[in-house]
Amino acid sequence: MEAPHPPEPWVNGHQIPWNDPAFSQRMLEVHLDPNTHMASRRSEVIDHHIDWLVSQIPAGSHVLDVGCGPGLYNHELARRGFRSTGFDFAPAALKWAETKSESEKLACNFLNLDLTALPNDLVEIIGGPVDAITFWFGEFHSFSPEMVRDFLPRLHSCLRRGGKFILEYQPDDIFVREESSEWSAEKSSVFCDSPHLWLQEFGWDKETTTEVHVHWILEQESGSLQRYIQCHKAWTEAQLVGLLADAGFRDPAFHPPITGDSEEFEFPMVVTSA
Ligand SMILES: C[S@@+](CC[C@H](N)C(=O)[O-])C[C@H]1O[C@@H](n2cnc3c(N)ncnc32)[C@H](O)[C@@H]1O
Repeated sequence: MEAPHPPEPWVNGHQIPWNDPAFSQRMLEVHLDPNTHMASRRSEVIDHHIDWLVSQIPAGSHVLDVGCGPGLYNHELARRGFRSTGFDFAPAALKWAETKSESEKLACNFLNLDLTALPNDLVEIIGGPVDAITFWFGEFHSFSPEMVRDFLPRLHSCLRRGGKFILEYQPDDIFVREESSEWSAEKSSVFCDSPHLWLQEFGWDKETTTEVHVHWILEQESGSLQRYIQCHKAWTEAQLVGLLADAGFRDPAFHPPITGDSEEFEFPMVVTSA
């Protein structure tokens, strides 16, 4: 397997395999585990986020959530009388989101869409234009600048005039900017059901200000080796404002992490209007 060192950003991958069915099934457990914030926050934190969100938008409005995972934000919005659409491309998370929504008879709609390949008729598909778009958790940083410049205007075209785009972002100063590596022996993990070695390399690409996190999974019994590459692009606040303005969003306002409970897994937001 070709493995340049230090690993190059955006070359052999940019995300963990969210849309792989088996990975998605294992990751669903992490989303729903109240003891870890790794994939979704626990319900108390989400409740606080929704308290804040509903103070920003008209009652009963239609919200589109990007990368909705198991739909935890969508469900809570619908419980509070909002219309809620979410899209993601992780099959197990979407299935769980739909099943939960049906069992509680919530006004939610879930779509299997890849943010990097959005259809041109997205606004019709979502029954839009919507009143607000949310993109929680900072997954935004796992997309290359080219991808971001493609999907931001597409999202903009799904918002009604004056509607809000709420983007939770990872501030530039939390990026470590150092090379390191570590390994562990695992009975199972999100990457593999059976015992394996999990080797991780962290690289920093100065030129593109991107962290490259490589996961090597060496399965004990078969000896098979898999590599997954995660990139995280650091954007300064000025760069974010420029990106959003280029996509048509205006009046940027920055907001600190909502609960402030955890600095590591709760980030600030930039709120802009269409
Ligand atoms: C860290 S999780 C957050 C999930 C959810 N927003 C939450 O806070 O509970 C990131 C989500 O982004 C989704 N995602 C990543 N890349 C995507 C893509 N290209 N298209 C659609 N969804 C994507 C993943 O499948 C995953 O559900």
